[in-house]
Amino acid sequence: MITKNNLIQIIAIARKCNECAMLHFNQLTKENINYKVDASPVTKGDIAVNKIAVLGLQKIFPKIVIVSEEFEKSQKQLKNSNLFWLVDPIDGTKEYINGSPNFTVNFGLIKDQEPIFGLIAQPFTGTIWFSFKGKAWKLNKNKELLDAKNIYCSEINIKKLKVVSSLSHRSKDLENWVNMIKPIFEENIGSSIKFCILAEGKMDLYPRNKPTMEWDIAAGHSILKAAGGNIFSESGMQIQYGKTNFKNKNFLAVGKITQRLPSFFLMGLNQLNRVKYKQDLNLAVKAIKDKKLVVFPTETVYGIGAIGNSEIAINAIYSAKQRPYNNPLIAHTYNKHEAEKIVLFTKIAHLLTDQFWPGPLTIILQIKKNNLSNILSQGSQTLAVRVPSHPVALDLLEKVNTPILAPSANKSGGVSPTSAKHARDDFGPHYKGKSWVLEKILDYGVCEVGIESTVVDCRGKSPIILRHGAITETMISNATNTKALTLNKTEELISPGLLKSHYAPNAKVLLNQKNIITDSGWLTFGKIPKSLQKQENMFNLSLDGNLIQAGELLYSGLRFLDSSGVKVIQVMTIPKIGIGIAINDRLTRASSDEKSNI
Ligand code: TXA
Ligand code: MG
Repeated sequence: MITKNNLIQIIAIARKCNECAMLHFNQLTKENINYKVDASPVTKGDIAVNKIAVLGLQKIFPKIVIVSEEFEKSQKQLKNSNLFWLVDPIDGTKEYINGSPNFTVNFGLIKDQEPIFGLIAQPFTGTIWFSFKGKAWKLNKNKELLDAKNIYCSEINIKKLKVVSSLSHRSKDLENWVNMIKPIFEENIGSSIKFCILAEGKMDLYPRNKPTMEWDIAAGHSILKAAGGNIFSESGMQIQYGKTNFKNKNFLAVGKITQRLPSFFLMGLNQLNRVKYKQDLNLAVKAIKDKKLVVFPTETVYGIGAIGNSEIAINAIYSAKQRPYNNPLIAHTYNKHEAEKIVLFTKIAHLLTDQFWPGPLTIILQIKKNNLSNILSQGSQTLAVRVPSHPVALDLLEKVNTPILAPSANKSGGVSPTSAKHARDDFGPHYKGKSWVLEKILDYGVCEVGIESTVVDCRGKSPIILRHGAITETMISNATNTKALTLNKTEELISPGLLKSHYAPNAKVLLNQKNIITDSGWLTFGKIPKSLQKQENMFNLSLDGNLIQAGELLYSGLRFLDSSGVKVIQVMTIPKIGIGIAINDRLTRASSDEKSNI
């Protein structure tokens, strides 16, 4: 995507930005500082550097939208684009104003919600860090591109952690987090320099539980990834870009990890009672081992799990959900190695799982002939497997140490759950039936994605998408270098859960609606049209028209409107791009009159 020529040009722009930033830095007076609506400072330097950066990038990449911190119009322009620049002309304006050397110029290029190129320049020293062709590089002031040196994250040793955190955003929660993980060394530094320090292997972790914007981290994220590290959300997913208002939630930036970090590293970013968590987890593990059911969070939706080596436990899921027996279940494991014990991996499966596991991807493969996989697949020759990223799910799977079969924790055919409350609504108030007991509900927040995993048949030479999700067709095609196929109607029978009339609320669902029907409820997307402004029963999926947010809220919206008692839910048009394809897929099934014949 970025050629060597492009890189040379981008570095030239960055160097101009450096000079310009220093010029203003040396002449900075109070009169040059203004304050934005959110009270953050902006200086003449920010504005001048912004101009050089935006005009410069625009010239090299005339077709790519540029979103900049100091160019508000650009932020509004961009809607669900799969390719855009994120520019922060001066990251660490506070440091800049205070005369500290730790302020940077950041350029990040985003493709399909992921940073694919990043450059960070430090005007004070003239140093530039960037990612290029899958590697991370450091280039000193006035040096030629040829002189750039490779940088790498160091492998994290949990017993000897070095933590770098923000200088101006310390909080009680962060203090608690640091006390919990007990680093041997801790430092506070401003701006994106933190990512560069991680990428150079000088530090291991950078926790953040105060607001940041995507342009603050995109460039650093790309460099860190190229150096062997990554940035994770609280549910263990790689941070995504193009979210609503470009706002990030809590994250943990990490150097190179060779084994999973303890869950409280992620979960502790937002007040965690570790004693209670341990108790909860132990009860859940015992329940699963006793062949009872447990509801647990994943990054997609809440699942209702049963141990995979017991027919009694598996039958309990079918009874609890009233699920047709010919709709097979997904086996969840805590890593790829465990998955390889039960299914035969193909080249496509390796390519996809290396890129998207742990995460919202389920693969269908031929089973390996052994006792466990026979029970897991209930006699079928194929099995669906998934390694979730959510720390609670992974803890449960690792402690149980047998794959857990887990469908979404809702009654069959109904709306999937994205919170523990949704599962309680569906299985309560007694949490048991004739042949099932739901022993424990692990209530740990709202699901990040909000839509079930993408299901891909990986047995052949081309991946076949059986169910759309957050990992999109483009992402699958790119990762496998093979055009991903999707099913036509007759073939849908391969994946019985995909029959029409699924994910359906009690109310009738009507799609692409414009005209109001009396007493209906509305599921809106984007700005609310004038005609609907007085509508009583309404749920807006995303006022900004952001599809990632709409995915997160879809099932809450359907459940909310259903519980308001309306007979009809009218849905506005939602664009069929990115995760919008999965959203439309679920809504189409929710709107189908055709009852499942199984
Ligand atoms: O995100 C998710 O995948 C969630 C969380 C809990 O992990 N689980 C989930 O499971 O959505 P469930 O059972 O609601 O949906 C599983 C889907 C169904 O459409 C099912 O038909 C399909 O995967 N499936 C399972 N095994 C299959 C197989 N062997 N061949 C084809 N499709 C299969
Ligand atoms: Mg389901």
